[in-house]
Amino acid sequence: MTTEKPYTPDAPDAKGTGRLRSQAWFDDRSNPDMTALYIERYLNYGLTRQELQSGKPIIGIAQTGSDLAPCNRHHVELASRVKDGIREAGGVPIEFPVHPIQETGKRPTAALDRNLSYLGLVEVLYGYPLDGVVLTTGCDKTTPAMLMGAATVNLPAIVLSGGPMLDGHYNGRLAGSGTVVWEARRLLSADVIGYDEFMDMVCASAPSVGHCNTMGTALSMNSLAEALGMSLPGCAAIPGPYRERGQMAYLTGRRIVEMVREDLTPRKVMTRDAFENAIAVASAIGASTNCPPHLTAIARHVGVDLSLEDWQRVGHEVPLLVNCQPAGFYLGEAFHRAGGIPSVMKELLKVGRIQAHAVTVSGKTIGENVAKAPAPDNDVIRPYDKPLMEEAGMLVMGGNLFDSAVMKTSVISPEFRERYLSNPDDPDAFVGRAIVFEGPEDYHGRINDPALDIDQDCILFIRGCGTVGYPGSAEVVNMQPPDHLIKRGIVSLPTIGDGRQSGTSASPSILNASPEAAIGGGLALLKTGDKVRIDLRTRRVDLVASDDEIAARRAALNLPVLKNQTPWQEIYRSLVGQLSDGACLEPALKYQDVVHTSGLP
Ligand code: FES
Ligand code: MG
Repeated sequence: MTTEKPYTPDAPDAKGTGRLRSQAWFDDRSNPDMTALYIERYLNYGLTRQELQSGKPIIGIAQTGSDLAPCNRHHVELASRVKDGIREAGGVPIEFPVHPIQETGKRPTAALDRNLSYLGLVEVLYGYPLDGVVLTTGCDKTTPAMLMGAATVNLPAIVLSGGPMLDGHYNGRLAGSGTVVWEARRLLSADVIGYDEFMDMVCASAPSVGHCNTMGTALSMNSLAEALGMSLPGCAAIPGPYRERGQMAYLTGRRIVEMVREDLTPRKVMTRDAFENAIAVASAIGASTNCPPHLTAIARHVGVDLSLEDWQRVGHEVPLLVNCQPAGFYLGEAFHRAGGIPSVMKELLKVGRIQAHAVTVSGKTIGENVAKAPAPDNDVIRPYDKPLMEEAGMLVMGGNLFDSAVMKTSVISPEFRERYLSNPDDPDAFVGRAIVFEGPEDYHGRINDPALDIDQDCILFIRGCGTVGYPGSAEVVNMQPPDHLIKRGIVSLPTIGDGRQSGTSASPSILNASPEAAIGGGLALLKTGDKVRIDLRTRRVDLVASDDEIAARRAALNLPVLKNQTPWQEIYRSLVGQLSDGACLEPALKYQDVVHTSGLP
């Protein structure tokens, strides 16, 4: 079967003129001067004028992989299979680099680069002769950055995930990315292992090309891209080195050419229903707490009204079905073999938690895509009525310290649930003594200070870590207790902060508190020694103090002067919104569907 169709004058395009968008650059007969200038330099590496003027869709491949971005690096090789697919379907591939975002390599934080990469992609998609784009994704922020850019521009776009690394092993046990770090850190603190074993243990979790093999932010966000309908079915979970990954690259390349001909744009796929599907899937897979801000940002750029309350309403009751670290046991390979996202969605669909009619980049609906997916295997993917945990979605919290924050309930320990969720009548049972840290450096410097007298009834707070305070917002809320408690077997305390935490962490944390302390949010008023009540039943965190006391503290508040280290940090801080609003560059949001509304081709 061939998918190649001859170009016809009524082929879809961005302006409805019957011409492909790229022909405004490459085949404008009314303006030979500019056409010649646009076209000649694309010939200098071997393309021919006939190819570029034949009406074949010009397909960009947004390349997020590089030596600096190892989680996505194998996209450099996968791109050749994408190009095979594009060529076979009758398109012309043009690969281009996007600003790297390496979660583990970028200081002070890779979160700064999501919006920078987004801006870069928007400029490329808008300003160059492209009719559609393959978005290569993988490492945490690469997926939202690419989807946000495609949403703003609204050219036909399809996600190609890079896939997780192979499963890591250490001493005969699974060693999952990130998650093993938290375990190794505890063992190091308790003097059970030394420096070399610590390093070996952590590095064992990264045995091959690919992104994190746990259900951290990377696998979560690629799973949600698939749940949104933006990748071909089954794409998210295929491990990076598997042959199916190369095959998926080829099929993705073929499909984007057809999508251009069908004018299947991101706005037709990423609808309100698609976002609700993604939220339900997030709960079922035990997705990262970074997903709410990323999904909010994508929704805002594509013009869909999505709020944190939607996570509570659509997602909270959904049970945990996927048995992957950090909420469960397995890693990416097992998840893929058990059926990946299509099996999860098929199971959710059976009980009405998925809206089957949502259109996807395959050209079919979600319901059609997942119809033949394997049934749950009862181990890695559980049936809906035998989940790993009931009501496993995010809790959306409020109170007098912040307007909103999220808590990932699928990683709350039984002891923590007992104390903060199930305790029937005693309101004081939820009250703890606050220990307040001013950012990660302060936490690391003082956590073992005996003067803080930290015991099992303390709540660890960290502030100054939101989008403005620690530009980009730091993944630091998952703070471990002091060494003396860990040695006594108390391995976690409740933690609360205006930063984020790694999706690979199983810490009982209340995060993404917005507004953040750096812009005068309630956390700025807190002092070490304060009493704070956490009540998960009412979804509130409150400073136990009179209104007068709180008002007096607010009147005396002096916000810190923030120092920027790079030009982008200054620009970012001046334009960024809060995590509750997706941490978007707020002025960017007025640019919607720019290819169709700008007046240029
Ligand atoms: Fe890149 Fe986890 S660090 S995916
Ligand atoms: Mg991360």
